[in-house]
Amino acid sequence: MNQIPINMKNHWMPFTNNKMFQKQPQMFQKAEGVRYWTPEGQEILDGSSGLFTCAAGHGRKEIAEAVYKQLMELDYSPHFQRAAPISFELAEALSDLLPEGLDRIFFGSSGSEAVDSAMKICLAYHKAKGEPQRTRFVSRSWGYHGVNLGGTSLAGMVGNRRDFSGVTCDVVHMRHTWNEDQRFTKGQPQDGADLADDLEEICQTYGGETIAAVFVEPIAGSIGTIVPPVGYLQRLRELADKYGILLVFDEVITGFGRTGSAFAAQEFGVIPDVMTMAKALTNGAIPMSAVAVKTEIQAAVIDSITADRPELMHGYTYSAHPVACAAALATLGIYKNDGLFEKAASFSPTFLDAVFSLRNLPQVSDLRGYGMMAGIQLTPGETPGAKGSAVQRKLFDEGLHVKATGDALIFAPALVTEEEDLSGMIDVLQKVLGQADL
Ligand SMILES: Cc1ncc(COP(=O)(O)O)c(C=O)c1O
Repeated sequence: MNQIPINMKNHWMPFTNNKMFQKQPQMFQKAEGVRYWTPEGQEILDGSSGLFTCAAGHGRKEIAEAVYKQLMELDYSPHFQRAAPISFELAEALSDLLPEGLDRIFFGSSGSEAVDSAMKICLAYHKAKGEPQRTRFVSRSWGYHGVNLGGTSLAGMVGNRRDFSGVTCDVVHMRHTWNEDQRFTKGQPQDGADLADDLEEICQTYGGETIAAVFVEPIAGSIGTIVPPVGYLQRLRELADKYGILLVFDEVITGFGRTGSAFAAQEFGVIPDVMTMAKALTNGAIPMSAVAVKTEIQAAVIDSITADRPELMHGYTYSAHPVACAAALATLGIYKNDGLFEKAASFSPTFLDAVFSLRNLPQVSDLRGYGMMAGIQLTPGETPGAKGSAVQRKLFDEGLHVKATGDALIFAPALVTEEEDLSGMIDVLQKVLGQADL
């Protein structure tokens, strides 16, 4: 492969230091399985499934063929007062995978759209039930829920909120669930379920009857994989029920086998009222997201409107895009035929052992993990939060792509990763994180 001469001035890159990138571009030209290749032909192992998207590995022909076929048959159809049969087929297939009762599906194109759609559905539900005063949301410190204005309001990562204050919704934050005693805990920490009582405290301070929904990532992903303490999600469920608040699980990262079950809801045995999903829904091949809600939530909203008008005044030009539906159906077929959720569950102990072998390296200050996702906390440098990007660049130069946030790396390879691929990834991590000075 030859290096392509590129003018990099015009593309304003997202979540990127554009000036730094232009000085030291790191690009992908080609991908297959758990590998990328740069335009110069360097092989890069994919330690983050793209961006937690490509759970079935890159270059899946089944998806490419389904997309091509759909493009030639029906490339686009509007979904306002019109539909294509394939969207109903996908909604049914998804409801079969979801916990029982979560079987009404609203489609969007990104995780951020799913989150903002879920917020509006929660508001519409309470209004339909005669409680229009429930307009406040609760989320959690260190949470990430995308970048639209609703999701930015829910965000618990200060860097994602700082520049956008003043235009956000009414959100109160619970504490995150990490503490010093949890360092190097594999799986769920035993202590910390009582942190869910923050929700009760918020209900007492603000009035439970003013709160529409509580949003949490079952495992906080973007901050660096914070696994919920045993009993924490159960306690949130009890409190949400006690105060009539909808419980929303944002499963944009944890969905589709990442935890070893279809969704974290099933893995942890806690069923939310609303769930958001995206990323691995189409194996990252075509943008698509979904919000799943309990039957009675949709029923309340649609039964509350008797006029001939849309019951939910919300939707996107690309909601239920037929090509995205085709990609998603092909992806769900791969997950099923290749038994990838079961593979993730059985490979997880090997994966976590490999991650925890990094424990004594000088650049590692904490390790966390569950299923096929792990957080590697770096020993902070002079400026807290600045080391992740520097380490991410070094890892790339050594042949490994991993997502970094602040001083954490989020290591979550594809569910098709084999032991040999994993040891290649761990070798690069060992080499870079074993350096005393970074
Ligand atoms: C939990 C969670 N919610 C929402 C989003 C936003 O998804 P998108 O980037 O597709 O808008 C993400 C993205 O990483 C996420 O991790």
